[in-house]
Amino acid sequence: MKLWGGRFAKSTDTKVDDFNSSISFDQRLYKQDILGSIAHASMLGTQGIIPVQDAQLICTALTQILADIEAGTITFDVFAEDIHMNIETILISRIGDAGKKLHTGRSRNDQVALDMRMYVKEEIKSIQGLIDDLQKVLLSVAKEHTKTILPGYTHLQRAQPITFAHHLMAYFEMLKRDEDRLTDAYHRTNVLPLGSGALAATTYPLDRTAVAKALGFDSITANSLDGVSDRDFCIELLASLSILMMHLSRFCEEIILWSSHEFQFIELDDAYSTGSSIMPQKKNPDIAELVRGKTGRVYGDLLGLLTTMKGLPLAYNKDMQEDKEGVFDAVDTIKMCLPVFTAMVETMKVKKESMLKAAGGGFTNATDAADYLVKKGVPFRDAHEIIGKLVLYCIQNSLTLDQLSLKEYQDISPVFDENIYAAISLEECVNKRNIPGGPSEEMVLACIQKNQRYLDAKNPIF
Ligand code: ARG
Repeated sequence: MKLWGGRFAKSTDTKVDDFNSSISFDQRLYKQDILGSIAHASMLGTQGIIPVQDAQLICTALTQILADIEAGTITFDVFAEDIHMNIETILISRIGDAGKKLHTGRSRNDQVALDMRMYVKEEIKSIQGLIDDLQKVLLSVAKEHTKTILPGYTHLQRAQPITFAHHLMAYFEMLKRDEDRLTDAYHRTNVLPLGSGALAATTYPLDRTAVAKALGFDSITANSLDGVSDRDFCIELLASLSILMMHLSRFCEEIILWSSHEFQFIELDDAYSTGSSIMPQKKNPDIAELVRGKTGRVYGDLLGLLTTMKGLPLAYNKDMQEDKEGVFDAVDTIKMCLPVFTAMVETMKVKKESMLKAAGGGFTNATDAADYLVKKGVPFRDAHEIIGKLVLYCIQNSLTLDQLSLKEYQDISPVFDENIYAAISLEECVNKRNIPGGPSEEMVLACIQKNQRYLDAKNPIF
């Protein structure tokens, strides 16, 4: 019989058992479920709600069940619907009447909310560790490339010269915010829902604060309806992971471009690229493409849950069982993407010469040529026009700005002198951009040092 079978004259159709059951996917919450039950049972004993001996029996049996699950000796049953009732059924089969007391003052509604919060907390920590690993790699590659000049782009057109270190550190900043968002989500997840009961709390004198403390929660939910019916902590996690994936995906897009024959800025290590079954010459950036592709799936997980939740009246509705697979999928996806992405970046070969060559073409120093005139008193708009004309002249004659003779410069404006060549050298263009946030070697080194301290000092809030 079902744990809730009392008011039913007939058993459920097997199709309903299959349809209704979540055990195929929520079994991964077994540890959270058991730890939550142990904390609940001990509190019931301490509060005198059930006999202390029964509480002890329950806790010992649950600990054994946990060990058995981990040893792989337990098979779950679709008939028992979900992880909560599977474990309770096993408990009762092992210790009888004492086991039947575990669910006193509790509902699966607050139980599942608890399990999910415990799961999300743990996964946030582990994802943050993986972000740290990527940041460490970015920092170490950046350290090697504070003098490596490449074109910075807007509209994917060469714009102004920057350094590869500066480019990488842009991603470092994004990842810092990603980690912050997760920390933020962690704080709001770190609230114990147990004690909310089915929806209207309970008449038993539960000590919610003691349970929160035992399970490492900061506080307890303030409203029982909210405690069981809210899944915004899952949505926040999915939103933070979606943004993180969006950042990785942009990075992937660049890696794919950079490894093309057209760019040749990097070469991926053989261990992190793949070949073609037909074209012998091919070396494909599959890893970067897959991470980019999987971004869509994490967005899908977010949109799926937002849509599931949007029309639900308070409090619990079975629709909410649909929260799990999306959350698990997003977490699994990120945990697969981050390590392989990190290793791909760590092992890629940076082709400094091609980067420099690309920065030398495309007139990335045109802004600096205009600024040179401005410093000599020419109004910026006039300077812009003069350099525009010079660029046109260069394009018509297949030249770059540094290949023009002084006479050619002076023909267009007498203000030019010998110093123009120094002013438009790529190193000068980069290093003159020496304000906080800029790409100069000095500024980027300072930023690397600051972020090294940030990584060293990163004391997890947990
Ligand atoms: N398996 C359910 C879920 O994941 C547990 C809660 C069920 N509660 C209920 N009243 N049917 O949402």
